[in-house]
Amino acid sequence: MKRIALLVIVLAASIAQAQVKSIELPKYQPYLPPGPGRELFATSCLSCHATRYITMQPVMTQGKWEESVRKMIKTYGAPISEELVPEIAQYLVAFQQAPLDPLSRVTANPEPKISFDPNAGDAGKGKAVYARACASCHGTEGKGDGPAMANLLPVATNLTAGRFARSAVVRAITHGVPGTSMPAFPSLSAGDVQDVVACVTQMGGATEPTIVSDQAKLLFTQNCASCHGNDGRGDGFNASTLPRAPTNFSQREPATEQALKAITDGVAGTPMPSWKAKLADPQRKLLADYVRTLYHGD
Ligand code: HEC
Ligand code: HEC
Ligand code: HEC
Repeated sequence: MKRIALLVIVLAASIAQAQVKSIELPKYQPYLPPGPGRELFATSCLSCHATRYITMQPVMTQGKWEESVRKMIKTYGAPISEELVPEIAQYLVAFQQAPLDPLSRVTANPEPKISFDPNAGDAGKGKAVYARACASCHGTEGKGDGPAMANLLPVATNLTAGRFARSAVVRAITHGVPGTSMPAFPSLSAGDVQDVVACVTQMGGATEPTIVSDQAKLLFTQNCASCHGNDGRGDGFNASTLPRAPTNFSQREPATEQALKAITDGVAGTPMPSWKAKLADPQRKLLADYVRTLYHGD
């Protein structure tokens, strides 16, 4: 009897190992705050699942994290030796305590000084920078359908569906978008950045006028402000806990269709949930219009 039980355990363990081997490595550099145990955590845990999977856990104590790491070793055959468990747990505790304020979630890369004159930058030259640095993910025309996105979530932003303030584009290029595959581009010169910003802002084009309604404002406060903030600046009280920062609508005006799709279906690979079951069609339409009234531009 004991032998059979043992055999079952060994079999289960080897099946777990075989399954584990087929899990794909994340293809991007995940956001990991610096601190003791950082490298140890990365090499011990990120071979099987993305950081997001781990960091979206509820906040846990040192003891609970140690338990969780031991479960990985015992249940899933994670190749981690016992004496490293406390150090990994310590990093995870510190990680969860480090506030991920979306506005401070920046790299040390200095932001290049660019001109905010509407005629600044050469969109033609920017197109060449774009083709070299951005098109593999955002697609030749900026629709977010580049070949590098085949296995990644969230997919790259559709840069043609609405508009971004120039400061938002500069921020994305300088610091990347934490919680997604979008990297920082510290090697682009200020001139290149100015040109590619001109190119990207032209992709956005004009947007339709919108109507503000009190009902929409109330719906937004009740359902959306916890993440997007009361004024839609991406600074709601929940924002700092999320792996991908909520959209700051003061610097991003999505096209109506784009907004409605995000509200209805959610945004795969990010904490933006689907509201199909919670809000009726007309309410979602009101909100799609409402978020667009929050835009301030550069
Ligand atoms: C050998 C592969 C492997 C390694 C290495 C690994 N895990 Fe896991 N982990 C898994 C599997 C498989 C699951 C269960 C997945 C599921 O339920 O969808 C899991 C689930 C989890 C969960 C979800 C809660 C739970 O208990 O199911 C947490 C948290 C977690 N892992 C943390 C870690 C940490 C921290 C490390 C590094 C010390 C780590 N994992 C290393 C395979 C691994
Ligand atoms: C490796 C793929 C990849 C590359 C290369 C890339 N991006 Fe991105 N980009 C993304 C992803 C993924 C997102 C976030 C999508 C999401 O969260 O829904 C993103 C988001 C953005 C955003 C929106 C930021 C925001 O505040 O929401 C802008 C603007 C942007 N990228 C511009 C660029 C520019 C310009 C380049 C080239 C210099 C570039 N990207 C290169 C993948 C990429
Ligand atoms: C749990 C946090 C959370 C809540 C609650 C939430 N959002 Fe979001 N939302 C996000 C995040 C994170 C993103 C960024 C996704 C991305 O671009 O990858 C986002 C993106 C969006 C976008 C897409 C913008 C674009 O550029 O395409 C719209 C529109 C949006 N949210 C509207 C809403 C509305 C309306 C509500 C309330 C009904 C709401 N959100 C509630 C987290 C949240």
